[in-house]
Amino acid sequence: MQLAGPGVMGPPADRDAALAVLREAVGLGITHIDTAAAYGPRVTNELIREALHPYPGTLHVVTKVGATRDERGGWPPAREPDQLRRAVEENLETLGLDTLDLVHLRLGDAQGPRPGSLARAFETLAELRRQGLIRHLGVSNATAEQVTEAQAIAPVVSVQNLYNLAHRHDDELIDRLAAENVAYIPFFPLGGFSPLQSEALSAVAARLDATPMAVALAWLLRRSPNILLIPGTSSVRHLRENVAGAGLPLSDEDLADLDTIGGRARRR
Ligand SMILES: NC(=O)c1ccc[n+]([C@@H]2O[C@H](COP(=O)([O-])OP(=O)(O)OC[C@H]3O[C@@H](n4cnc5c(N)ncnc54)[C@H](OP(=O)(O)O)[C@@H]3O)[C@@H](O)[C@H]2O)c1
Repeated sequence: MQLAGPGVMGPPADRDAALAVLREAVGLGITHIDTAAAYGPRVTNELIREALHPYPGTLHVVTKVGATRDERGGWPPAREPDQLRRAVEENLETLGLDTLDLVHLRLGDAQGPRPGSLARAFETLAELRRQGLIRHLGVSNATAEQVTEAQAIAPVVSVQNLYNLAHRHDDELIDRLAAENVAYIPFFPLGGFSPLQSEALSAVAARLDATPMAVALAWLLRRSPNILLIPGTSSVRHLRENVAGAGLPLSDEDLADLDTIGGRARRR
């Protein structure tokens, strides 16, 4: 999402830098890139294609459908069957693929998940999967009930929701999905538009001689084995820092201190 222009609209200020981030990610061994035709729109997908096509067999380019863009840069929902089909086709075309590896149905709105049936939209994606245009399905910005509803329609391999050290509404859902062998992909892992800031985070980072970003990512990887990281960046330097930082070892004391940020009692 960070590779398009400001507000995720139009081209990036530095196109070569965006292409360099993508190539460096794969060079560092990253096998999962999260995108959407709505980023730019089309811009991020076209950069991914230019930088990385033909894709290495190990790389999963993961996309989402269910929202479009308006002229003011808003993200209005687009979950009617014909809109979903068009969005899948647009992702295929811009990424240069015959089959999309993993498509998330994006639900809710900018304020978060909203209750309500996803059946019509998810059945449309299940049908596109049967037709061979999609390999795997996921849901995004979804409630636990919507995940359950989707699972009754087709296999769900992943859930992509807002989650980080400070936003822990999905704690129960993450544990449930781990038991069901379903991946959980936190978006805004670093806080998104408002970077994570907390005294406890800064204190743990200082103790470990690491950055708060590294600690936030390492904490997510420790939080549950089904968590996959997609921190966004437009910078090769930040990308390298994030890949190295995610491997930071955290002690039980660190984890207990970090648990206080999201208002959780010490877990250990
Ligand atoms: N499903 C959904 O509804 C949904 C919604 C939002 C996002 N997403 C996905 O989730 C991904 C991550 O979300 P996000 O990019 O919005 O938020 P994020 O990963 O929480 O934070 C990205 C921000 O952190 C900065 N950053 C990254 N690494 C840094 C470092 N080492 N030091 C300092 N700053 C650093 C980035 O700036 P620089 O560019 O300067 O590094 C950027 O401003 C997106 O790229 C998108 O694929 C999905």
